[in-house]
Amino acid sequence: MSKVNIIYWSGTGNTESMAKLIAEGAKEKGAEVKLLNVSDAKDEDIKEADVVVLGSPSMGSEVIEESEMEPFVESISPIISGKKVALFGSYGWGDGEWMRNWVSQMDDSGANLVNDGLIVQEAPEGSSVEDCKNFGRELV
Ligand SMILES: Cc1cc2nc3c(=O)[nH]c(=O)nc-3n(C[C@H](O)[C@H](O)[C@H](O)COP(=O)(O)O)c2cc1C
Repeated sequence: MSKVNIIYWSGTGNTESMAKLIAEGAKEKGAEVKLLNVSDAKDEDIKEADVVVLGSPSMGSEVIEESEMEPFVESISPIISGKKVALFGSYGWGDGEWMRNWVSQMDDSGANLVNDGLIVQEAPEGSSVEDCKNFGRELV
């Protein structure tokens, strides 16, 4: 069974809602899914996963969250090489620049990115609910 570990940071719950929908989609396809707030995530959660899914909203000025997510992402760079990785997150008013930069940063770390990342404006609703579930389904 494919192990999908979803690790996210969320301030107001939008990225967390995305994470739950992605988990739902992956579970539907038979994956064993672990959903973790980044404050609870450990190296082992990266090492054991077949697919690592990382989520952060756009914060600061078009960057991932800086107090917990960025240090975690930095800390896993030695073990992320060759891993299947997918990124997602919510944003407010930008054009997704933070996600493009994050994708290219992970690419530089040697991660095997399985897609270009999923971005949703604020909370997932309407068609973006299905987009999140599909994103999860396609990871498996
Ligand atoms: C401090 C702060 C900085 C933000 N910076 C950006 C930004 O640069 N670009 C953008 O599109 N949205 C920005 N946002 C909006 C958030 O990305 C958006 O509200 C998102 O839905 C929050 O996700 P969350 O509920 O998972 O925390 C910012 C929000 C906050 C609180």
